[in-house]
Amino acid sequence: MKLDKDFIFGASTNAFQIEGARNLGGRTDSIWDEFTKRCFHIPPAGKNDREINSIAISADFYHKYQTDIRIMKRLGLNGLVYNIDWTRIFSKNSQEVNWEGIKFYDNVFATLRANNIKPIPILFHWDTPMWAELQGGFENRAILEWFQGYVATVFKYLGKYTDVWFVNDENSTFTLDGYLSDYLPPGKNSKEGFARAIHHLNLCTALTKIEFEKAKVAGNVSAQALLGIDHDWSPGIPYRIEDEKACQEYNLWFKNFFLDPNLKGTYPPVFQQWLAMQGLSDIIQSGDMELLKNNCVDLIGWNYYRPAYISRDDYQEKQGEMQITSKTFFVKGFKQVFPKENVRYTSWNWIIDPTMLGPGAQALWAEYQKPLMIVENGLGAFDDKSGELILDYNRAEYLSLHFAEVKKAIAQGVKFIGYSLWTYCDIFSPSGGYRKDYGLVAVDFNSPNKTRMPKLSYVWYQRLINSGGENLAHDDHDTLQQLLKDELSTWDFWYQ
Ligand code: BG6
Repeated sequence: MKLDKDFIFGASTNAFQIEGARNLGGRTDSIWDEFTKRCFHIPPAGKNDREINSIAISADFYHKYQTDIRIMKRLGLNGLVYNIDWTRIFSKNSQEVNWEGIKFYDNVFATLRANNIKPIPILFHWDTPMWAELQGGFENRAILEWFQGYVATVFKYLGKYTDVWFVNDENSTFTLDGYLSDYLPPGKNSKEGFARAIHHLNLCTALTKIEFEKAKVAGNVSAQALLGIDHDWSPGIPYRIEDEKACQEYNLWFKNFFLDPNLKGTYPPVFQQWLAMQGLSDIIQSGDMELLKNNCVDLIGWNYYRPAYISRDDYQEKQGEMQITSKTFFVKGFKQVFPKENVRYTSWNWIIDPTMLGPGAQALWAEYQKPLMIVENGLGAFDDKSGELILDYNRAEYLSLHFAEVKKAIAQGVKFIGYSLWTYCDIFSPSGGYRKDYGLVAVDFNSPNKTRMPKLSYVWYQRLINSGGENLAHDDHDTLQQLLKDELSTWDFWYQ
């Protein structure tokens, strides 16, 4: 089955993970600059431990974007999901626009357009400016005004470049790991912080929708443009028959709790009950629910990496039954388990199982009736870069099996506008630093020039795109190797 000619074959990436140039172009620090400096940690080589490394240069996309866009064109992409860095646009406060920041994104988006690649901006990917964080960040209700001013500016000056936008990447990860725990910045370890941050993020999304519609009327954004939110729901699989109810509760939290506010304008009642139990009901102020209800978004972005096996939280695991320690949540009744038997894992202990992508997509479509786009899907692995060719067959297989599920869901009636994999090139990973590779294109982080080199998965994706989504083959290793050799033989000096 060939896909619609407008189908987006994309790759996704993110400013603080790829851009570098943290203090150039008038930019100041965001919470990610502060966090990576404060928590800098390099574990022993070769271990799948968390590395927190400098993002000062990273893959240096800031200086190499023209090279990268040439590579993207050659790869065949017709879409690039890329987060606009709020701190680059408002570097000092909520009032003064940093015109150098606007200019940078204007150049990037114009170059993408000139190469027939649609920019698909994400307005917020966890990178609160430090000037905002120092005033309470997302816990401070004033963030609504700051964020609204930021998005209005972006729509005004960059709105013309595209008709697909996302407000955010994974509010769930940002608030659960950054507010309820301290795994990610700003690292608050606070239930109250979590409740305030998630509610304010939801309101920011509704306000973004208001600005989006205004920008359409003003002619700054096209009338057909879509605005979405991006979520990383890992669909639940009951570990045992008796875990069915626990699994439903898990899905209620991790699907509905994070999607309903901006797709239906409601919270599942369990959230209000939880707020009341914590004495935090006043976080939802009068008028807030109307604001959500009247300004729902148009599109669902879905980051699918893996499903989640769910058991009741009182289940006593047997010795040696699990691959890694089970994960409990801030709400009771269920936990995520990682069974050893019959489950495949990446070297970073992420489950590999594409089979829940199709049913998950159907569930999202049935419930919300909004178009969908896969915004992230990819394999984090240790790539062997010692030889002449980088033969990441595992990544080609992973991507192929997942793309097949997207096609199945489309055939069953789910409206997918595109698929964007994670990620275009190797970048800084929040859980693995520069030792966890995701890219189709390798980056030599030790070379002064941050040299780019295509991997086997690159030619796999190139062939899939050229076939309009038809050629999913991934186990014809000799052919793929030859394609990679051919590609490398014409890999001009300016890609380096
Ligand atoms: C997503 C994030 O949650 O997962 C990305 O949007 C991230 O920023 C990706 O890189 C993979 O996670 P990690 O920690 O393996 O890089």
